[in-house]
Amino acid sequence: MQDSQPGLGDTSAEEFRKELHELADWIADFRQNLGSLRVAPNDKPGAILAALPAEPPEEGEPFEKILGDVDRVIVPGMVHWSHPMFLGYFGWTTTAPAILGEIITAPLNVNAMTWRTCPAATELETLVIDWIRQWMDLSQEFGGVVYDTASVGVMHALAVAREEAAPSVRKSGLIGAGAPVFRIYASEQAHSSAEKAAIALGLGEENVQRVPTDVHFCMDPSALRQMIARDIRDNFKPLAVIATVGTTSTASVDPVPEIATICRKNKMWLHIDGAYGAGFAILPENKSLTSGWCEADSIVVNPHKSLFVPLDFSVLYVRDLKKLRRVFTLVPEYLRGDTVEAQKNYMDYGIQLGRRFRALKAWVIFRSFGRDGMAARLREHIRLAKLFADWIKSDNRFELAAPVSMGVVCFRFVGGGDSTVEQLNSEIVEKINASGRAYLTQTKLRGQTVMRIGLGNVLTTEKHLRKAWEMIQETANAP
Ligand SMILES: Cc1ncc(COP(=O)(O)O)c(C=O)c1O
Repeated sequence: MQDSQPGLGDTSAEEFRKELHELADWIADFRQNLGSLRVAPNDKPGAILAALPAEPPEEGEPFEKILGDVDRVIVPGMVHWSHPMFLGYFGWTTTAPAILGEIITAPLNVNAMTWRTCPAATELETLVIDWIRQWMDLSQEFGGVVYDTASVGVMHALAVAREEAAPSVRKSGLIGAGAPVFRIYASEQAHSSAEKAAIALGLGEENVQRVPTDVHFCMDPSALRQMIARDIRDNFKPLAVIATVGTTSTASVDPVPEIATICRKNKMWLHIDGAYGAGFAILPENKSLTSGWCEADSIVVNPHKSLFVPLDFSVLYVRDLKKLRRVFTLVPEYLRGDTVEAQKNYMDYGIQLGRRFRALKAWVIFRSFGRDGMAARLREHIRLAKLFADWIKSDNRFELAAPVSMGVVCFRFVGGGDSTVEQLNSEIVEKINASGRAYLTQTKLRGQTVMRIGLGNVLTTEKHLRKAWEMIQETANAP
């Protein structure tokens, strides 16, 4: 009897080995030559689609041809987030160990929905979550779960907050449970995932109330107190506060201890959005970042933003993880045989059933760099951010737009006439990005457009940063 019919089954082992070697060279070359590529394409929308056949393939094609199209169409059609001149967002990174971790993950083909469907994936997830907990000095009361993103993390955290405040919502829904109109508070600098979570949970976008910030873009606790008092008078039920440690625009840090006191007094859930900033707590000199965390009910940290794990890898910690399980555990009959009591089945801790083996790549990176290696790289990003800030301060046509925090610098060109300066700041970013030689972002602070760089890429050196600064100065000179 034939093993498999010709044309069926998988690629032959011999062919596969050959392709893998080819791919290994391709990856190493790509990584080595990345700095010589354009950071971003300058194509019009639709250019990628126009370069690829619209009809699906009828016959299979050789891998060589497919890889050729990756070179021809995909690579030039990308913003290269790993490029050393990519200074957008949080300057986010991948690393060689991360790529190796991703490669090992692919053939294992895991679905980590229950312990039984992959004991190693489940237990490694538990281990890696606990390593990060130890690095951040978080108490053992906190247990965690890995999701794709912080947006999904905050949604799950607020679902637990809602269930704690109105225990029958899971069963009867908001109306059936006669739940009050809940209110959630986050600073005007907090991420829009707060509203997205409220939308998804049926709490209502408008019930996320934005709290004013102080001159340093940190939440003003006295304004929070007043807003809560006002809402109680108006028959709303204050449910939760989202305090941000490392806001999206400026990486500012809300005063968590004071916010925690307000939450305790009003019996509210305290969620800490440390998507970007929490990773910096692995530095002993940054321990002040964690003050008040012992009072939190949930904390989200994105190692895919600041701890060198490539997208996606976000951990939600909940004090007493059983609370999260109570909201989301639901075992259909066909999975009952796969659940082992007393073992962690991660499907019980969120909406998702099928789950990738995300912990593996994190484990490879954390072991390859060690805490020391990660700390040294974070310190370098902080050093570069401060150095860039010094350059800004030394040129009177520019000013810092916010205190420099972590790897983020917000700054503004103020050398033009009053009426054009707003537009100029935006134009400088647009022009540099269109040149393909560097990539920055822009944001608005107090209604003014500011330029922004994020340092987080292991390939970005002082030389790259100097080049970017010169480019910004030249572009500002020739508007
Ligand atoms: C402070 C903060 N929280 C949450 C998020 C959302 O992150 P994610 O893309 O993981 O959902 C971001 C994204 O930049 C962020 O800056």
